[in-house]
Amino acid sequence: MRSIEELGKEYRKRTPKSLECFERAKKSLQGGVGSNFQVIEPYPMFIDHAKGSKFWDVDGNEYIDFNMAFGALLAGHAHPLLIKVAEEQLPKGTLYCMAIDASATCAEEIKKRFPVDVVRFTNSGTEATMHAIRLARGYTGEDKIIKIEGCYHGMHDYVLQSVGPDLDEAGSESCPTTVPMSKGIPREVTKMIVAVPYNNIDAMRDALERNKGEVAAVIVEPVMMNCGLIFPKDGYLEKLRELTEEYNVVLIFDEVKTGFKIAPGGASEYYHIKPDLIALSKSLGCGFSLGAFGGKKEIMEHIGDVAHGGTYNANPLAVQTSITALRDVINRENLERATKLEDKLAEGIRKVLKDNGISGYVNSIGPCGMVFFTEHKIYDYRSFVRYCNEDKLTKLWLELVNNNGIWISPRPDEHWTISVQHTEEDIEKFLEAFRKIAPDL
Ligand SMILES: Cc1ncc(COP(=O)(O)O)c(C=O)c1O
Repeated sequence: MRSIEELGKEYRKRTPKSLECFERAKKSLQGGVGSNFQVIEPYPMFIDHAKGSKFWDVDGNEYIDFNMAFGALLAGHAHPLLIKVAEEQLPKGTLYCMAIDASATCAEEIKKRFPVDVVRFTNSGTEATMHAIRLARGYTGEDKIIKIEGCYHGMHDYVLQSVGPDLDEAGSESCPTTVPMSKGIPREVTKMIVAVPYNNIDAMRDALERNKGEVAAVIVEPVMMNCGLIFPKDGYLEKLRELTEEYNVVLIFDEVKTGFKIAPGGASEYYHIKPDLIALSKSLGCGFSLGAFGGKKEIMEHIGDVAHGGTYNANPLAVQTSITALRDVINRENLERATKLEDKLAEGIRKVLKDNGISGYVNSIGPCGMVFFTEHKIYDYRSFVRYCNEDKLTKLWLELVNNNGIWISPRPDEHWTISVQHTEEDIEKFLEAFRKIAPDL
C-alpha cells in the first residue's frame, strides 16, 4: 500500500484549484476555512456544487458523496421537493422572529416519530444539547452532568469534555479523568462534568453514587457515531434508563446523528427507550439550519424560568422545508429503501474483507456504516483508540477519493450515510472501488 505522503501528493495533483482557493482563503479566514470541521489534510477540498448523491469540486472532479455532511443529509443534496418548498418560501420572507403556524406542524411531525410531549427549536445540534442541559439543570436544581467519554455533543463548554482525550491524561478506564477538548474552557466548568465509559453500567452506577444528589443529567449518544460507529451492548440503554430513574437524573438522548436515520424515530424507536429529553438536528433540517429539543411536559414546562431563544430559531425557511422533508423525503418508506442499499454495501464490504483475508468488520445500522480494520471488538472510546487503525482508515479514504470518486468521512467516525437519493449504481461503484483497493489493505 502506498504511504499517506504518496497518496497526499496524488490528492494535490488532482485538486490544484482547491489549493488556489485555500491560499486565497487563508488571507481572510483563519486557517483558510469557516469551521474547524472543514480542515482536511493536506488541505481542504473546495466544493463547487452538489446534486442528488454527488458533488463536484472546484477542479471539476465528480464524487459520489457517502459522507453526506457528516450524516446530516439523509435527504441527499438539493432534493427537488425541498428546493420547491424553499423557492415558494423565499419570496415570502425568511425571517420574521414571530410565531408561525408551521412551527406547530413541524413539532407535530417530530412528535409522530419521537417520544416527546412538546418541542422547542434551535439552529444546530450544539444549541439543542446546550438548551437541553440548561433545562435539565433548571428542572433538577443540580449542576453536574455525566457524559460518556468519546461522545460528541457539539461545541459548547459543557460538552467539549472528554471527547477525544489523550489516554495519558484520561485517568483510569472505569473512572476517567474529565479532560477538556479545548483551551478557553473555565476549569470550573470541567469540574462539573463527570466522564464515564460507554457500555459500562457499573461505572455509570459508581459515578451516580459518587455524585449523588449533585447530578442534573446524563447525556449520551445512544449509538456512538463520532468515534467510529459503536453499538450499545444488549441491555445497556435499558439499564441506563432504569439507573437514571432510580437516581432521579434527567436522561438526555443526543439524537443529532441517530435521529431520523437509524429508524424514523431514531434510537428511541430502534431500542424502544423513552429518555426524558431528546436533542435533534442534522437530518431534521436536511440541509437547512434547524435543531430541536423536546421531551416530557413536566420538564419542558420549566422553559420560561429556564431561558431558551434565538433570532433564527424556527425560521420559516428551515421549518417549511423540514415539514416536507419529514413527510415526503425522509419518510419511513424512503428510509427503508436507503437502509436496503446500506445492507447491500455492508454485505459487499464484508465479502471483500473475507475474500482478501483482511482482518476487519463492518458496523452497520439503518443507512449508516463504518469499516474497522481489526479483529478486536470496539465497544467504547478506549477500545476505539487502541484498535481503530487510524492510519489504514486515512489510506482508505485517500485511495477512495483520489482514484475512485468516492467520498467517505475523512475522519474515523461514522464512515458513510446512504441518502434517499443514492442508487444501486452508487453502491456498486463503492464496492467496485473497495474490491480494487482491498488487496493493498
Ligand atoms: C451527536 C452530535 N451531537 C451534537 C452535534 C452538534 O451539532 P452541530 O454541528 O449542528 O452543532 C453533532 C455534530 O456532529 C453530533 O454528531
